[in-house]
Amino acid sequence: MKCTLKFLPSERTLEIEAGEMTLLEATREAGLPIASACGQNGACARCGLDVISGIDAIEEESEREARIKERNRIDPELRLACRVRPTRDMTVRATYW
Ligand code: FES
Repeated sequence: MKCTLKFLPSERTLEIEAGEMTLLEATREAGLPIASACGQNGACARCGLDVISGIDAIEEESEREARIKERNRIDPELRLACRVRPTRDMTVRATYW
């Protein structure tokens, strides 16, 4: 099953197979920058993105993800793109796109 990812405010979109890649990988595939200082291991919290729609299509945040965000003092509402594997349409936003 295909799903479409939309990246705001750039308006770029990317169609992927459901569950094929992480949101971080998809962001890079779309040609947009996203930080990562931990090798996509969910440890640095640099890849936090604002999920505008489609949050119900992804796994709930784990305790570890919440702890990593708190430790790195990032907005608790953001999701770590390296921990999210889209399975349905999603819209995400980063202020620097
Ligand atoms: S890349 Fe480090 S937490 Fe996602």
